[in-house]
Amino acid sequence: MTNKYMYFVANWKMFGGVKSLNSLDKVIKFLRSFKKKNFIKIVYCPPNTLIDLMVKKLKKTKIYVGAQNCHESEKFGAFTGSVNPMMLKNVGARYVIIGHSEIREKGETNKIINLKIHNALKSGLKVIFCIGETSSEKKNKMTKNVLNKQIKFGLDRIRNNKSIIIAYEPVWAIGSGIIPKTNELLETVEFIKKKTKNIKVLYGGSVNPKNIHRLNLIDNLDGYLIGGASQESKKFIDIIKKTYN
Ligand code: PGA
Repeated sequence: MTNKYMYFVANWKMFGGVKSLNSLDKVIKFLRSFKKKNFIKIVYCPPNTLIDLMVKKLKKTKIYVGAQNCHESEKFGAFTGSVNPMMLKNVGARYVIIGHSEIREKGETNKIINLKIHNALKSGLKVIFCIGETSSEKKNKMTKNVLNKQIKFGLDRIRNNKSIIIAYEPVWAIGSGIIPKTNELLETVEFIKKKTKNIKVLYGGSVNPKNIHRLNLIDNLDGYLIGGASQESKKFIDIIKKTYN
């Protein structure tokens, strides 16, 4: 249980069509009557195809919309299949996730991530910057080294720390049903905060209504980045309720 201001970021990944927007009705209704509504910030990151519609649907609510990635160029350009931060801002996105491991895996480097962060901030978006170690890096006790490098290069020459939130997502925890041990997570979050001069840190990786009690024991966390469980409104709402009960 907490009394802190917390973020609940829903990452829908490559799921959802126009009809999926109906599932937000429950969340909108829940938030209206939730006693702690002023303590929480909900951000939905749907696929790009749904951003515009979602922004319109959530217009009169306190729920915000973000994208799951962006191109690194600040200008329009001949980049087939890509969308830049300015274009996301233009359709009403307020946030963008950058550096997710599912994109890093496809060759996104710390340098590209740094450029994306620069240009996303320039466009006026807030950035949810993902970092995390793989299972082999963890086994080889390289977690802190890896995170240190991701932070150092990812945030190189970035001044506007207030518009950045870090999401610590161990790669081995994403979609696996496994979460880190409480003491390990506490220590890692502390390490990240120290390295970043107290940027807010969210945890992501298999967050669900069953393990949220354990995660809520980490009192230096500022919220959660939720993948699978965010696609079902009931589970997403349960996670929020249990964080404040
Ligand atoms: P998960 O995904 O909650 O389904 O593990 C989290 C994420 O990848 O952001």
